[in-house]
Amino acid sequence: MEEQQNVRRILLFTILSSLALSARSWAPYRLPSHLVPEKYSLKIITHLEDENNFAFEGSVDIRVRCLQDGTNVTVHIKEPLKVVEEGVKVKAASGEEEGQELDIASHDQDLDNDFYVIGLSDELKQGMTYIVHIPFRGKLTQLLAGYYLSSYVDLATGQKRWLATTQFEPTDARRAFPCFDEPAMKARFSVSLGRSNNLTSLSNMPLNSTEPIENMPGWVWDHFSESVPMSTYLVAFIVSDFEHRVSPPLGPRHNDVNFRIWARKDAMDQVQLAIDVGPQALSFFEEYFDVPYPLPKQDMIAIPDFNSGAMENWGLITYRETTLLFDPMVSTIHNKQRVISVIAHELAHQWFGNLVTMKWWTDLWLNEGFATYAATLASNQIEPTWNLMDESAVEGYMIVTNLDSLKSSHPVSVPIGNPSEIPQIFDTISYKKGSFLLRMMSLFLGEVTFRKGVTSYLKTHRYKNAEQDDLWRALTAQAHLDGSLPEQVTVKDVMDTWTLQTGYPILTVTRNYDNGSATIKQERYFGLSHHQEQNQHWWVPISFTTQDEINFEDTSPKHWLPNTSSMEIFDLPASDKWVMFNLKASGLYRVNYDKKNWDLLVEAFNSDEFKNINVVNRAQIIDDAMNLARVGKITYDIAFGLLNYLKNEREYLPWRAALSNLGYIENMMRRTGEYGVFKRLLSPIYDEVSQSSPKNKTLFLIKQHSQIIAWACAYGVGDCVDQAKAAYKSWQKMSDPDANNPISINLRAIIYCTAIKYGDEDEWNFAWERYKNSNVGSEKNLILGSLGCSREEWILRRYLDWAMEDSSGIRRQDSYTAFVSSANGNIGYHVAYNFLKNHHKDLFDYYGPKATRLGRYYSSVGKSMNTMPEYMELKAIGEEPSFSLSKLTVEQTEEKVLNNIEWRTKYFDEIVRLLKNILKICRKAAPVVLTISKTFEKCFFIANKQLDVITIQLKDVRKK
Ligand code: BES
Ligand code: ZN
Repeated sequence: MEEQQNVRRILLFTILSSLALSARSWAPYRLPSHLVPEKYSLKIITHLEDENNFAFEGSVDIRVRCLQDGTNVTVHIKEPLKVVEEGVKVKAASGEEEGQELDIASHDQDLDNDFYVIGLSDELKQGMTYIVHIPFRGKLTQLLAGYYLSSYVDLATGQKRWLATTQFEPTDARRAFPCFDEPAMKARFSVSLGRSNNLTSLSNMPLNSTEPIENMPGWVWDHFSESVPMSTYLVAFIVSDFEHRVSPPLGPRHNDVNFRIWARKDAMDQVQLAIDVGPQALSFFEEYFDVPYPLPKQDMIAIPDFNSGAMENWGLITYRETTLLFDPMVSTIHNKQRVISVIAHELAHQWFGNLVTMKWWTDLWLNEGFATYAATLASNQIEPTWNLMDESAVEGYMIVTNLDSLKSSHPVSVPIGNPSEIPQIFDTISYKKGSFLLRMMSLFLGEVTFRKGVTSYLKTHRYKNAEQDDLWRALTAQAHLDGSLPEQVTVKDVMDTWTLQTGYPILTVTRNYDNGSATIKQERYFGLSHHQEQNQHWWVPISFTTQDEINFEDTSPKHWLPNTSSMEIFDLPASDKWVMFNLKASGLYRVNYDKKNWDLLVEAFNSDEFKNINVVNRAQIIDDAMNLARVGKITYDIAFGLLNYLKNEREYLPWRAALSNLGYIENMMRRTGEYGVFKRLLSPIYDEVSQSSPKNKTLFLIKQHSQIIAWACAYGVGDCVDQAKAAYKSWQKMSDPDANNPISINLRAIIYCTAIKYGDEDEWNFAWERYKNSNVGSEKNLILGSLGCSREEWILRRYLDWAMEDSSGIRRQDSYTAFVSSANGNIGYHVAYNFLKNHHKDLFDYYGPKATRLGRYYSSVGKSMNTMPEYMELKAIGEEPSFSLSKLTVEQTEEKVLNNIEWRTKYFDEIVRLLKNILKICRKAAPVVLTISKTFEKCFFIANKQLDVITIQLKDVRKK
């Protein structure tokens, strides 16, 4: 029987492939192109009443148009969905035969490609429309994909409540109903949901009518309005007992979209932020895109079990609780920033993604990159004092230059081979590099041109699909109209070099100090010094300023470096003045200079002049210098000469850049023994920071405060650890610690982690109790992150076991938080790594369709490895089938380890010298800390001692 089926499958497969290939030279996993869907009538009854049989059943009528004669109807289905074959019908819906049924010859499944194929004896005729009727049923799973189950405990009764919800992107609509599950197969949807009458149902469109279901007393049908044309991955439906609140209208100048926020009853006190932010962001985008939001309503709902952060289903956006809900008494300012930016991101998708959708997943970046970029713009308008544009520039610059320095990175616009690759490209490249490149375009074309071009792109392709060339075309037309791009150059010329090639360039500026000229050479930047790539070049927008000019505001390109290897420019200043390129990180490129210009810059930074240099450029040059030193393009002398100025720096962003780069060095040294070597650098600023408390201060002040304290506590600077332990103790002593927490909200993560790290079972159990009792997602998440800070092996082992047991109270969606936080600790690293070695198969089963998650496990242990034996072992694990859905991350992690090995072998002596530099910094910090002379003495003393210890330890390591 099975054999027979196999033969049929293979036969079918061959026929289908050749059919498809001859028609459009499609790959076998693409749907054949002879039919396109126009409209779905979808009916689903959801059974939540029987704990032993959570299930759904229904039928779909798909009206399809025939573009080419054919004898099969091929749609997507995937487990747990089952077709009820006896009920399948294909009827003519136009022409003389309208209403007549076609003869069905066979039903087949191609499991490799998720196809269900109805073979017909009669021919489907080009130009005709048909109705394909398919009844189906399926089980509701807990796998966070398709139509799945979520649950929560009702606080008043202590009872578990269930809900059913969808997550379809990228390719899981086929797990819920038979459909043409490709983004370009847009159609209208009429959804009807059958539910028990004590529940509520929601879908993309407003509810139209409700009527009893025949022969099912206590059950009703909810009929929703017909949708606009949209892709299957954006369809959503939910059956729950949730409550909602309506956002008040913004005022007469704004749209009248009905905006509602939904959550479980006990979380309704956390919806105020979303109530406020949602309509503001929606209205920002209507203005920004100059295209109205086309649906009459927008629902946003917090789902207790949710795989990713949020999902932009048109008119029914689903969120994790942590990304929609906010409790001002408990949630941190980070949480607030996250909620605002996620709401903005998903609302931006209503245009970029929903209204205009990528033709194929290759251009996913158009969706995700744009939503990411536009989210920053909207958030910036909502919280104008937060400096979000600067923060996202620096964050984007650091994260993208880092990942994209790997050979195993990938182009922004990425060919998709096997569909298993689709979930993997929801990554830093699509989101952050995509977003950074859009910002780059907006800066070189000018904001007005960029916006008009985008609007024209959206208007041209609305309710349809597009690829990046369509965006380039719209922007080029606008740019030439506005004169913001030379006539002979197109946006495509420029941007193809950025989106079709992997990587980004490093510019080397070599000045001729005699005549004020300079040669600018470009090559691809690699994180490993011996990689070389001769043939890659980019169109680079070149901006710079000089010591005479000091103008960081004009980011429009002074020159274009065309996609050739080098050029000369002639407008540089006198020989004793510095020049600085790439203003405010307006382009995605690093810059290296000749030694003399570096010296001039280092001198400027170490004088009062540093304040005149834009703060983004301060952070950016720290990141450049530390990375150039890391690959041997400049010496660590220069890089640390620059860092030396930090003793006078009080701004958040430069410190963030410095600490994250020092973090790399620290990470490389952590398992060589004692590793708190950089604490000396922090002493002066810690003394300052720990004595101030940034109440009602700006976002950056709060972040600066907490990042310095985090480092201080991690390296035992000053009294940080004692303070943290004391604060935690005072919480433990509270009579009702779930209601009364004396610890300052934005320091909780650091204080919990420190107290648990230096504490024992008591501290751990106390936090675990608070975790179980908390009703706020972000608080739960924060505690999970701290529980991994323990240094007790048995506690950590138990923690990781619990993280995979549903009964422990740790949700599947949060399991990796426990793992990653453990892997970050020194002891935890070993526990986590062993756990991964022993349990990757279990994890693979546990995650099911969402097993791409294993990539995070792999990278969180791999990132601090730096020896050959470690590499070999890690690589062998990465080859296991458990990691088959995380290939990209596995490869990138392996390459990072190779980089680490090179760095470690090469810079051994450098590190020792670097430690001496830290001593020097201690000395130079004297003026700042003279008033706190005790700290200074301590700093000097410990640094000396530390240096000896580390030198000895490093020598040991080298011998091994
Ligand atoms: N479209 C994505 C959701 C998604 C992610 C679907 C991965 C399938 C796979 C959504 O718009 C999104 O980008 N969510 C982010 C949060 C966002 C604010 C960065 C996420 O889930 O991480
Ligand atoms: Zn997104």
